[in-house]
Amino acid sequence: SSYEHLIVERKGAVGIITLNRPKMLNALSFGVFGEIKIAIDELEADIAVGCIIVTGSEKAFAAGADIKEMQPKSFIDMFSSDFTAIGGDRVATCTKPTIAAVSGYALGGGCELAMMCDIMIAADTAKFGQPEITLGTIPGIGGTQRLTRAIGKSKAMDLCLTGRMMDAAEAERSGLVSRIVPADKLMEEAIAMAEKIAAMSRPVATMAKNAVNRAFETPLTEGLKVERDLFHATFALEDRSEGMAAFIEKRKPVNKNR
Ligand code: HXC
Repeated sequence: SSYEHLIVERKGAVGIITLNRPKMLNALSFGVFGEIKIAIDELEADIAVGCIIVTGSEKAFAAGADIKEMQPKSFIDMFSSDFTAIGGDRVATCTKPTIAAVSGYALGGGCELAMMCDIMIAADTAKFGQPEITLGTIPGIGGTQRLTRAIGKSKAMDLCLTGRMMDAAEAERSGLVSRIVPADKLMEEAIAMAEKIAAMSRPVATMAKNAVNRAFETPLTEGLKVERDLFHATFALEDRSEGMAAFIEKRKPVNKNR
């Protein structure tokens, strides 16, 4: 299928969604969010795909929601058809593991989109921020919630109240990103990571992802119970008996469950 604002590719078992509005630093219009939803639907349904990368350009992952599109809108315009209503949070509900590969600006909705992914890898050029306050608004698709859970109250308040940017080193130090890599190695590293994840047992990867995500939704005792139930559930899978047999036989496992 064809996309206006995205490039959607497959490299083996890895699906890659590249934001492609370079002249506007990948500003996220309603059209872009709508296409991201369609792309996730497509890659999630593709049994060949085991991990999905979301990325932008060298200069910008995404410089936020499209300010030119938003400027004339009223309360009722946004209330009746907001970013979430058109599937703007679809990356967060994806059942397959997702990686944000961030180079350059990840601001506002761009930072929020990256935070919807399971893992964030940053180029050393990456810059993160929630500058909405400088436009007279606030984050609208997870910025005050996911950022606060990722980096804590004081730094989240600092970013949301001053609108300043933080560089890749600060983002890694504060737990927003898992790794920093040289800018020219970003996609290579992201694809290597995605291939590694895609080669794992697919259902087990989804269970691991779901279990980690429960940590953000539940009290500890409930999260531990979900984890235990999912851990036990892996024992229903051939991939689990194969994985342990392969270890004992000193060979690589062949994962088959889909
Ligand atoms: C629309 C944008 C844009 C945006 C950049 N552009 N960001 N257009 N929406 N978010 C456009 C510029 O207008 C310009 O178009 C072109 O892209 C290049 O950008 P420049 O500003 O000339 O580039 P530069 O000087 O390098 O500065 C880069 C920048 C700056 C620091 C990232 O562009 C910037 O501050 N952008 C806005 C960041 C921001 O406030 N984001 C939050 C948006 S609100 P022309 O036509 O002039 O060449 C938001 C709310 C989320 O995200 C709510 C839920 C989704």
